[in-house]
Amino acid sequence: MATIRLGDKAPNFTADSSLGSINLYDYLGESWGILFSHPADFTPVCTTELGTAAKFKNEFDKRNVKMLALSVDGAASHAEWIKDINEVQNTEVNFPIIADEDRKVSDLYDMIHPNADSTLTVRSVFIIAPDKTVKLTLTYPASTGRNFHELLRVIDSLQLTAYHKVATPANWEDGQDVVVSPSISTADAKEIFTKGVEEIKPYLRMTPDPTK
Ligand code: BEZ
Repeated sequence: MATIRLGDKAPNFTADSSLGSINLYDYLGESWGILFSHPADFTPVCTTELGTAAKFKNEFDKRNVKMLALSVDGAASHAEWIKDINEVQNTEVNFPIIADEDRKVSDLYDMIHPNADSTLTVRSVFIIAPDKTVKLTLTYPASTGRNFHELLRVIDSLQLTAYHKVATPANWEDGQDVVVSPSISTADAKEIFTKGVEEIKPYLRMTPDPTK
């Protein structure tokens, strides 16, 4: 196991899940992917996270992002837990949860941080681009549930900046003005971004979102 860094190829694996055997690369196909771990089944914060994730699935679908959760319990346990999640969160968990009983995937993705907990995973997030490179990693402790609005926001930024020479400023939300990439001159930026470029400083140039 090695630390997975931004730009690395996401390691492929085949694992059991709540929806049967899954091969990561086959499952993702040409889509983007989000792989997120949960410390264990039948735990309160994870129950709220998976219910929330299920309610957000149409937003991930709109962005062409396939969802894949992981917990270190078996598929039979996942099946019982999913019934609870659906009941208490008033939803339907409609994406696979990896059944990582042998910790194979958790180890591959360095999701167990022994100084935090020797057996359960932390709350890891990996966002994977269609070329299978890792574009974002996040690590939350077990005691802090993730913000799924933030995960969608960061996917909007990753997808915009993957295809256009821009970056997104602090607290940016989809549709707001963006920063011109430092790699291009203001003269070139004015040719590329026909909606206008505002030069606040030579290194800080703003332009409307080129996709809107
Ligand atoms: C939870 O999901 O609620 C949780 C799991 C492990 C430790 C603390 C909280």
